[in-house]
Formats: sequence, structure tokens, C-alpha cells
Amino acid sequence: MQAQIQPFFDSVTGTYSYVLYDHPGGHAAIIDPVLDYDPKAGRISYGNAQRLVDFVHAQGVQLEWILETHAHADHLSASAWLKQQLGGRTGIGRDIDSVQRVFKPIFQLEEDFATDGRQFDQLFADGDSLQVGELQLQVLALPGHTPADIGYRAGDDIFIGDTLFQPDVGSARCDFPGGNAATLYRSAQRLLSQPDHTRLWLCHDYPPSGRAASACSTVAQQKAANIHLHSGVSEADFVALRQARDATLGAPVLLIPSIQINIRAGNLPPTAANGLSYLKIPLNLL
Ligand SMILES: [Fe+2]
Repeated sequence: MQAQIQPFFDSVTGTYSYVLYDHPGGHAAIIDPVLDYDPKAGRISYGNAQRLVDFVHAQGVQLEWILETHAHADHLSASAWLKQQLGGRTGIGRDIDSVQRVFKPIFQLEEDFATDGRQFDQLFADGDSLQVGELQLQVLALPGHTPADIGYRAGDDIFIGDTLFQPDVGSARCDFPGGNAATLYRSAQRLLSQPDHTRLWLCHDYPPSGRAASACSTVAQQKAANIHLHSGVSEADFVALRQARDATLGAPVLLIPSIQINIRAGNLPPTAANGLSYLKIPLNLL
């Protein structure tokens, strides 16, 4: 059975979220949902997440899973809010614990903030499988952008997170803590060794002017034309190119709020005595 896939694009952060389901009236998973955040006002809203809720209701599907490919640094995750609205279980790669261990001291999180991934309902390892109604998904470890990146395969469709982008954009940055360009190269080769017709569903698109955003490309298209990882690019060439490019990139606009929410599985920090939740900004560190 082929998965039904509906992409949703957030043009503010360039992020693709997905609803994956077996058939109308059946069962669904949401992948990489976006929580809207206005950094000027410190205000959260639910426009993107509500589109996912509306689609799930319109298809009459039961939400089984809310899946993350990694702890995103460019947008906040709507997973906790969606779980309240629709139920389902949250999941992420099991190496999220190493990301939590890096950022707990940076953000001076509360002492009882656990760094074993327990904020998520399920931690996935390479080769794990999960069921979405009549669909069986497999987990692929795809580290490099972060040490904990995973992808989800459903037949000929793979949700690849931040690894490859569209061929004219290239690849994900590797300069966050625990990121590694050589590791990303090997993850990319794992994807590019899949059959040519395999559809790769991206976590982001940053289309150059004149091209519309696009969620998907095939292995054949990537091997032919990816500007960083087309066939014939060696690991050493890629590492040099990726490191040179990363040295020019500033921090993502929403890095600081994103990490603090996303390593909590989309939950807000514990409230202060006044009932409000606060984020922290470490000065002169990131
Ligand atoms: Fe990312």
C-alpha cells in the first residue's frame, strides 16, 4: 500500500510539515509540525498547526504519531499542542539525549530537566519500525546536521529531515553542536543509494527567486543535479564545501527559542510564580 502524503509549507521558516496516512477514515502520522512564533512579541500562535488539525479532521483519520526528524533550530515544534488536540504519541531519534545534554547547561535549565529523552513518548533507533494503520514505517538514522537526525521510510517515500535539500539548494548545515559534515555525507550516500525512483520528502525548501517551493525530489534528480552532493562528489570535497559555506552562515533567527521548546518535545518551560513561561537568551555564547 502506498502512503497518502499531504505537505504543508510554512513560508516564514521555509519548513515542510507532513500528514501521512493510509486512507481516508484510517490512521495518520504528522511529521515535523510547526508552531508559529513571533520573536518580536514573544507570542505563540497556531495557524500552521491548525491547518494540520483541519486536514486530519477532513480526512477522518485517527492520529497515531507526531514524529520529529530532529530537534529543529529554525522553528518551534507544535507537537505538544497537536497531541492535546488530536492525541497520538510523540517520537524522535534516541540520540536526542546527547542534544539535551549539550543544551541543558547552555540554557541553565531547571535541575530536574531530564536528559534521557523521556519528554517524548518514543525514542527511535535505526531500523525500528512503527505502524500507521495499514502502513509500516521504518526509521533510518541520518546524523550529520545534528547527531540525532532520523528519517522515516514508508515504501518508496522517505521523509529525510535536514539532509539533502532541493538539488539547487544542496544540503543542510553541519555547524550546530554535534553536527559533522563527514557524517552528513555518509547519511546522504545512504539516501542516494536507494532506488532512483525513491521520493525524498524534504524538511525545508529555500527556493531561489523564480522557483516555487517544492516538497519532494527523487534520488535520480538528486544524483544528477544536487549542487553539493551530485554523483561523483567525494567526502573530502563535500566536507570542504560544507565547512566553507557554514562559516558564512549566521545563527537561525529562531535558534534560541526553538531549541528551548523542541528539546522539551514542544512543551513550554515550567511556569514562573506569575503563571507565565519564559525563554532565556544566553549572551555572547551562541
Ligand atoms: Fe534542522
